[in-house]
Amino acid sequence: MCGIIGIVGVAPVQDRLIDSLKRLEYRGYDSAGIAAEVDGKLQRRRAPGKLRELEAVLEREPLVATTGIGHTRWATHGAPTERNAHPHIVGRVAVVHNGIIENFAELKAELIAAGRTFQSDTDTEVVAHLLDAELATGLSPLEAFRATLARLRGAFALCILIGGEDEVILAARNGPPLALGYGDGEMYVGSDGLALGPFTNRIAYLEDGDYAILDHKGAQVFDQAGQVADRPIKIVPASAVLMEKGNYRHFMEKEIHDQPEGCQRTIAAYVDTIASTIAVPGEIDFAALERVQIVACGTSYIAGVVGKYLIEQLADLPVDVEIASEFRYRSPALRPRSLVIAMSQSGETADTLAALRYCQERGMQSAAVVNATQSTMARTVDVVWPIHCGPEIGVASTKAFTAQVSVMVAVAIAAAKARGRIDAAEETRLVNVLMGAPRLIAEAIGLEDAIRDIAAEVAKARDVLYLGRGPMSALALEGALKLKEISYIHAEGYAAGELKHGPIALVDDQTPIVILAPFDSYFEKSASNMSEVMARGGQVVFITDTEGAKHAPAGAKVVVTAPSSDPLVSALVMSAPIQLLAYHVAVQKGADVDQPRNLAKSVTVE
Ligand code: AGP
Repeated sequence: MCGIIGIVGVAPVQDRLIDSLKRLEYRGYDSAGIAAEVDGKLQRRRAPGKLRELEAVLEREPLVATTGIGHTRWATHGAPTERNAHPHIVGRVAVVHNGIIENFAELKAELIAAGRTFQSDTDTEVVAHLLDAELATGLSPLEAFRATLARLRGAFALCILIGGEDEVILAARNGPPLALGYGDGEMYVGSDGLALGPFTNRIAYLEDGDYAILDHKGAQVFDQAGQVADRPIKIVPASAVLMEKGNYRHFMEKEIHDQPEGCQRTIAAYVDTIASTIAVPGEIDFAALERVQIVACGTSYIAGVVGKYLIEQLADLPVDVEIASEFRYRSPALRPRSLVIAMSQSGETADTLAALRYCQERGMQSAAVVNATQSTMARTVDVVWPIHCGPEIGVASTKAFTAQVSVMVAVAIAAAKARGRIDAAEETRLVNVLMGAPRLIAEAIGLEDAIRDIAAEVAKARDVLYLGRGPMSALALEGALKLKEISYIHAEGYAAGELKHGPIALVDDQTPIVILAPFDSYFEKSASNMSEVMARGGQVVFITDTEGAKHAPAGAKVVVTAPSSDPLVSALVMSAPIQLLAYHVAVQKGADVDQPRNLAKSVTVE
């Protein structure tokens, strides 16, 4: 998704705008630009491609100013060219935008009929024309902005400069997030707190419908009804240290290796480490629940599927998990005594937000398993279950996945306890198993050299099949998703039991088949699936554990032996091998590991 930054400064802004945009690169983009008023005239510099292209332009033609706006664009309307890059300037207005103006076509037709001409194919440009036209009627910047916002439909975060008002920035939020930063005589606005981290730790978050005018003294914020709104300033710890790659080549590599520590932090927030008892925050009465509905997208959805297996097995509580983009439109049959759990690293995924709101409007209790605790999801649910894994910068989710699964394990134990399915002794045993997981994750990461060798082979494949049973069927989906999103190799994840219902037709001696099979109650069946695949020339990468390696059928191309673990945490332990496999295949292929093509870290539009 696009990234936005604005600074009303007392010092030069050009380099600070660029630095902030670099902190937003993780959102995914394909062009960038900044604008400022210089010598009484709005000026901009834009470039397609990565920020280094824009820096080259600024090298030749710097923008010397103390107030400015910047943008990294993830193309929705119009190709990723300079012509379509933000900021868009029309008359007295320079605008950067994240989101989609859904009624832009009718507005554009109206403006063209009124004699206006357009230079780009973007929906954003209509905002600049509308505001410029309102200013031309003599309205103040704020009044003109209010009138313009009333015409827009859709999801948008906007940041605007007005020619002749070069110590002021206008901002508005309706959907995609926008944060205000309070400095000393300076004000900042950005897509998230990370973008503002280098300038201030005093952050306030705009709500949907809010708009604001920023100047050196601070910000005036108004709600959708035009009333003055008080958005509290929070002290958000500077996350600078978490933004560096350290001695890793990619954020994704660092984040895979961060998992033992990350999950340790997550788990510590959900257990009493002294008493070895479960301590899930919030007032959810699991004993009174009839059902749990999990809604999510992508990797977060897969973490929800793992959660389903654990909660149903341990707590005998029915759990449905559904992809949010399907759930929100199919008029699902809901029941009042149910809990909806939205799972989302960013807490801003549009489809998940919509699915969550659908359930809340029908009276369901709501919880959010999120990393961004100031996100929209976190601020609209009854209970927040943070995953505490620190900012995840790589577009491909890794540490957030295992942190989400860690929370699911804790919720499963808490639900089982509340529903009288486990006694105190079993609770202590399970909590100790969970607390021991980070060490096993670290051991599994220690398989990296063996995985790197396998990656050299898998990198040559055209298609890869991942198979697993039980929670490993979810990991099969995750392994396939990781591989395809960063190496661009087609991969499919399948429940191993489905093999004979179609996928076995894919099997030949060119197709690596990754079979995930810890030595659990599903092992025998997975082992026979392995034999079926090998009988047809399949090249099996068998990922098992120490006990499973002793019983694995002969003939696998390679056997990867992860540490043995209790089934409660095997999904945590088996994640590292599939993440490392995808990572090293992508590295072998020279792919853009942290910012894969076409992808965004947070999909804030549907
Ligand atoms: C995972 O590697 C992908 N980047 C993507 O599927 C992601 O999990 C999905 O877009 C959901 O994002 P969220 O967790 O922020 O809601």
